[in-house]
Amino acid sequence: MDKNRGRLTKDGIRIYEPADFDGMMKAGALAAEILDAVAPMVKVGQTTGVLDDAIRGMVEDAGAKSATIGYKGYQHASCISVNHVVCHGIPGPKVLKDGDILNIDVTVIVDGWYGDTSRMYVAGKLPRKAERLIDVTHDALWKGIEAVRPGNTFGDIGQAIQAHVESNRMSVVRDFCGHGLGRVFHAPPNVLHYGRAGTGAKLEEGMFFTIEPMVNLGRPETKVLADDWTAVTRDKSLSAQFEHSVGVTADGYQIFTHSPGGLFHPTYG
Ligand code: MF3
Ligand code: CO
Ligand code: CO
Repeated sequence: MDKNRGRLTKDGIRIYEPADFDGMMKAGALAAEILDAVAPMVKVGQTTGVLDDAIRGMVEDAGAKSATIGYKGYQHASCISVNHVVCHGIPGPKVLKDGDILNIDVTVIVDGWYGDTSRMYVAGKLPRKAERLIDVTHDALWKGIEAVRPGNTFGDIGQAIQAHVESNRMSVVRDFCGHGLGRVFHAPPNVLHYGRAGTGAKLEEGMFFTIEPMVNLGRPETKVLADDWTAVTRDKSLSAQFEHSVGVTADGYQIFTHSPGGLFHPTYG
């Protein structure tokens, strides 16, 4: 099977075949299953490195491959982004403390198909402000997903997300975006989490991409630390993110990365 299956639109976005949805469902299911299985391990006193070791083991045991190990020199099976870390947090000796919120992002390759998903977890008791941030970010992802249907545009997705976030007086990160995926990790288009309705490329049946809004309690600006990966909020405010991989169907969307245990949201599933 080659990476050039299907065809490209004039915007360079790959259109996959109906049968390809099955491959994406398998990859997405494994990624989501791993995020479910790691949930009971997230607790006060745990290190992010131990969580990553467990994820690496689960990917191996499934006979799959981690898409992130070796990706541009990245060495880990997950990104774990705690509190004011926006994304691409590197797992390591950091110990979780009571009230920490964290995003765990896993991408696996199954039979050549990529499944990419992330969600929020909490160690100990969820602080009220963090709970609001997590709820708004989760619901923003859903507003974006609900804008996925043939004939809508990528700007419709971005607008739906941005409107929800800003009406709750939080901010959408501009420096990172979602992406096409399928037989590759990152492909066109850039899926922006802000924008204007009716702008951008038109959605067509057979497009596969992620939606993965990052939302900050404070200002949207980020900076990348000296390790060249860890992105943090410039104002040190809390940040949250949720990510699903989706495909465009004839009348809407199919989510590839549903949580089998209903654990996508840390408190209400
Ligand atoms: N999974 C991330 C995404 O949603 C990308 C992580 S790349 C890494 O696109 F190298 F940092 F792991
Ligand atoms: Co992604
Ligand atoms: Co991801």
